[in-house]
Amino acid sequence: MALAVYSPSAEEGRLLVLNDFFVDPAMRRKGVGRALATRLLEEAKAMRVERIDLEVTPTNAPAAAFWKSMGFRTGGRTVYGRDIV
Ligand SMILES: CC(C)(COP(=O)(O)OP(=O)(O)OC[C@H]1O[C@@H](n2cnc3c(N)ncnc32)[C@H](O)[C@@H]1OP(=O)(O)O)[C@@H](O)C(=O)NCCC(=O)NCCS
Repeated sequence: MALAVYSPSAEEGRLLVLNDFFVDPAMRRKGVGRALATRLLEEAKAMRVERIDLEVTPTNAPAAAFWKSMGFRTGGRTVYGRDIV
């Protein structure tokens, strides 16, 4: 399952933000995530999106390894957030 939203920015241009990305635990390490991410990249290209952003928690080493293997890199940015309710 992949859930990404189009998030245009005056500074950054045409972005997609990937909010959720999940492969059934029983189906992992079989190339499903790679196929899904490849499809996402193709659809983003067709939308003329310039970059895809996503967050990985510091303890999620498998996700970090996965996204690195897909060519994603950290940009030296720190995410700030605040709960409203
Ligand atoms: C991260 C996740 C999506 C990977 O999906 P997947 O279908 O298992 O990934 P793939 O089989 O396509 O793996 C592609 C490559 O990513 C890397 N990779 C994937 N899982 C890895 C792991 N647990 N440890 C190290 N490398 C890993 C490998 O390089 C792998 O290639 P290889 O199997 O030929 O070595 C999956 O583990 C998942 O759903 N995790 C829980 C949810 C999550 O953390 N989502 C990401 C939040 S941004």
